[in-house]
Amino acid sequence: MGNDSAKKTIVVAFLLCVVCSVLVSAAAVMLRPLQDTNKSLDIKKNLLLSAGVITNPKATAAEVNEAFQSVETKLVDLSTGEDVTGIDIDSFDVKKAAKDPKFMESIPANKDIARIRNKSKFAKIYLIKKDGQIDQIVLPFYGKGLWSTMYGFLSLATDTKTVKGIGYYDHGETPGLGGEVDNPRWKSLWAGKQPVNDNFEPILKVIKGNVDTSSPEASHQIDGLSGATMTSKGVQAMINYWLSEQGYGPFLARFRSRGV
Ligand SMILES: Cc1cc2nc3c(=O)[nH]c(=O)nc-3n(C[C@H](O)[C@H](O)[C@H](O)COP(=O)(O)O)c2cc1C
Repeated sequence: MGNDSAKKTIVVAFLLCVVCSVLVSAAAVMLRPLQDTNKSLDIKKNLLLSAGVITNPKATAAEVNEAFQSVETKLVDLSTGEDVTGIDIDSFDVKKAAKDPKFMESIPANKDIARIRNKSKFAKIYLIKKDGQIDQIVLPFYGKGLWSTMYGFLSLATDTKTVKGIGYYDHGETPGLGGEVDNPRWKSLWAGKQPVNDNFEPILKVIKGNVDTSSPEASHQIDGLSGATMTSKGVQAMINYWLSEQGYGPFLARFRSRGV
């Protein structure tokens, strides 16, 4: 076959494609465990940042793992609030479970205020301990903003009604508008707020403008994100959803009545 023959060009191009695809596939397979480790580390870091256990967003893997020693992870059945047994908690992926017929549950449209359609029947909750005692309960949550599904953590005190911290670790809202959910100043407004009433029913309002601190409702309200009313409404809806009977309500009731 001469160098100018069409056949040789096709054979060389074909072989090049095969070699490249093998290399790319091998790299993808070999890097997978590293990617999984980094993903899990990132989630741990965001959880600890949301709860204020660590404050440095650039904390090293060693610092994150060290701080995570104080965290106990539980897998709970959302409908009863009871522990799920017989499933490996570390490998259980709640995001995947929300799409798996074995674990998913459709949310009736009239209850789906977070606009997520389906959820996993089982969810992870995190108990942060201080001096051997539970100090914070961290609840993962998600729901629709304007452009994207937003994923975050809400940390509550052990009275199950007072916020200790909040943080989003994945969203696609516009930087400077809905993306201001990442703004430390806005996040700091949450500490001490009570998104539920005395009967533990969710009543959070993310209002347009600033909260009137003299209002009796102020403890249930958060300043809206300016120029981002739609994202703000999404935040309000998702927090209220996950604190309701549909979300962590049964677990929080169990925690209040008899701990964990
Ligand atoms: C390019 C672009 C990006 C926007 N991003 C967001 C966003 O992330 N979140 C949001 O609520 N509104 C966003 N908006 C604004 C909404 O379209 C809508 O005007 C707004 O939610 C109304 O809020 P306001 O009453 O606070 O202005 C964006 C608008 C434009 C033009």
